[in-house]
Amino acid sequence: MNTIDLWLDTDPGFDDWMAWALLEADPAFRLHGVSVVAGNAQLPRTLANALAIKRLHGFTTPVWAGCERPLAQPAVTAQDVLGAAGMATTGPRLAEWAGGQADGNGVRALIDAVRAAPGRITLLAVGPLTNVATAFALAPELPSLLKSIVIMGGSTTGGNATAAAEFNIHADPEAAARVFDSGIEVAMFGLNVCRQVPVSGVHVDRLRRVGSAKAEVFAGYLDGYVDIARQRGRAAQSLYDPTPVVWLAAPQLFDLQPARVDVELAGRFTRGMTVCDLRAPALARANARVAMQADGDAVLEWAMQRLEAALA
Ligand code: RIB
Ligand code: CA
Repeated sequence: MNTIDLWLDTDPGFDDWMAWALLEADPAFRLHGVSVVAGNAQLPRTLANALAIKRLHGFTTPVWAGCERPLAQPAVTAQDVLGAAGMATTGPRLAEWAGGQADGNGVRALIDAVRAAPGRITLLAVGPLTNVATAFALAPELPSLLKSIVIMGGSTTGGNATAAAEFNIHADPEAAARVFDSGIEVAMFGLNVCRQVPVSGVHVDRLRRVGSAKAEVFAGYLDGYVDIARQRGRAAQSLYDPTPVVWLAAPQLFDLQPARVDVELAGRFTRGMTVCDLRAPALARANARVAMQADGDAVLEWAMQRLEAALA
């Protein structure tokens, strides 16, 4: 099996947690490090969540603290939706890791890891792109040293933070613009494809049936994640951050198209929008591959099987 060498940049968040757990669960992945960024909550909170997740699962991957605020705007979080903890639960709460400490500066660690393995590291970013853009600014050669970059972010249709902007881009549009303009092709998993992967109470019950204390904690937070949809009159929530993880292991479950993606920075109503020109390659110079289709049932089955084993 060809192992996929990865670096995860994340703003835990429950869907971030699920993505991380899948990366640790499947032998196809070798996770070199986890850098944490502000997003779902302020950095102290997303970092505390990451350390609590690491302790619950007994992960050994180093966790590094990244950027606290966006490049050029006041910080925004999703705590109005997710609560102060940045992720809600209907079950037992994650125990804080009181003695847990980050392993150092996340941006520097990302740069060092990529420089140490030129052409080998896939960077998976599932939060605002502040850490990534800062790393690219400090080490301009970094995009050329990455094997690839994959993001959960953006949308070819409407937004979730605003009518036009998806949250990860909305939280730091300047950073996202720098990443799409960095010269490396971005594999973009936006709201449009994540909406084809609906996670619901059926999946919560399936993980609760695993029966372990760890499964009870995890399933409670998955239930809290599905509650986001229930509170809006829907039974299922789009599966965001784990979706690109499944693509990395099972690309046959997806269809991606070349596109020119530009990030709107000036629009009064559209700032943070990913403007996706799907006329590539004929009429637009592609800088991305944008996920357009997913076999939602198969994606969820891939994830559930690995979570059932990981939570046993
Ligand atoms: O819009 C969804 C994204 O915003 C996900 O990455 C979620 O964790 C939040 O960061
Ligand atoms: Ca996230």
